Amino acid sequence: MAPPTGISFTFFFCSLLLLLPIALSEAYDHEDPLILRSVEVADVHDLLAKYGFPKGVLPDNVESYNVSDKGVLRVQLQKACTVSSLGIRYHVNIRARLVYGSLTRVNGIRGKTEHGFWLTVVAIKVNETSHTVGFSIGGLFKDFPANELDVAPACDAKVSDLDTM
Ligand SMILES: *[C@@H]1O[C@H](CO)[C@@H](O)[C@H](O)[C@H]1NC(C)=O
Ligand SMILES: *[C@@H]1O[C@H](CO)[C@@H](O)[C@H](O)[C@H]1NC(C)=O
Repeated sequence: MAPPTGISFTFFFCSLLLLLPIALSEAYDHEDPLILRSVEVADVHDLLAKYGFPKGVLPDNVESYNVSDKGVLRVQLQKACTVSSLGIRYHVNIRARLVYGSLTRVNGIRGKTEHGFWLTVVAIKVNETSHTVGFSIGGLFKDFPANELDVAPACDAKVSDLDTM
C-alpha cells in the first residue's frame, strides 16, 4: 500500500472534522449536555451551603441536580431515600424554589409527624438566630438543630412505595 499522499491525508482529515460534530451530538443526544455536565462536577450540598443551609438537608445519594433561571432547584437521587434518624423521606425527584435560607414549594419530601404520619414537607427554612432548620410538615415546623444536619445523611431504608409519591 502506498503511503498517504498529501491529498488523501487532507481528505482524511477533513472527513474527520466533518464527522466529529455528528459523533458528539450523538453522544449527547439523550441528555441536556450543558446542564448535566456542570452538575457532575459541582455538589448540590455545596450549593445548599451557599444558600445558608446545612448540607444534610439532602441525603448523600444525589445523582444530579440543576437550578433553572427562575431559581427552581431540581434534584435527582439515585433512588428514593428514608433517613430514619431525622424522620424524613425523599422521593427520587425533588423540586423546590431556592432562595437564601429558604426552600419553598417543595415537592418530593415527606416528614414524619409526632403522631407517626408521613406528610408532605412544603417548605424548609433556616433560622440563623436559633441555628435551627425547620421542615414545614402539616402546617407545623419540625425544627432540627442545624448542626444535626451538618453532614449529608445516608439513606437507611428501602422506600419503593415512594416511587408513586
Ligand atoms: C434539569 O433540567 C431539565 C430541564 O431543563 C430537566 O429535564 C432535567 O430532568 C433536570 N435534571 C435534573 C437532574 O433534575
Ligand atoms: C428564629 O429563632 C428565634 C430565636 O429562637 C425566634 O425568636 C424567631 O422567631 C425565629 N424566627 C423565625 C422566622 O421563625
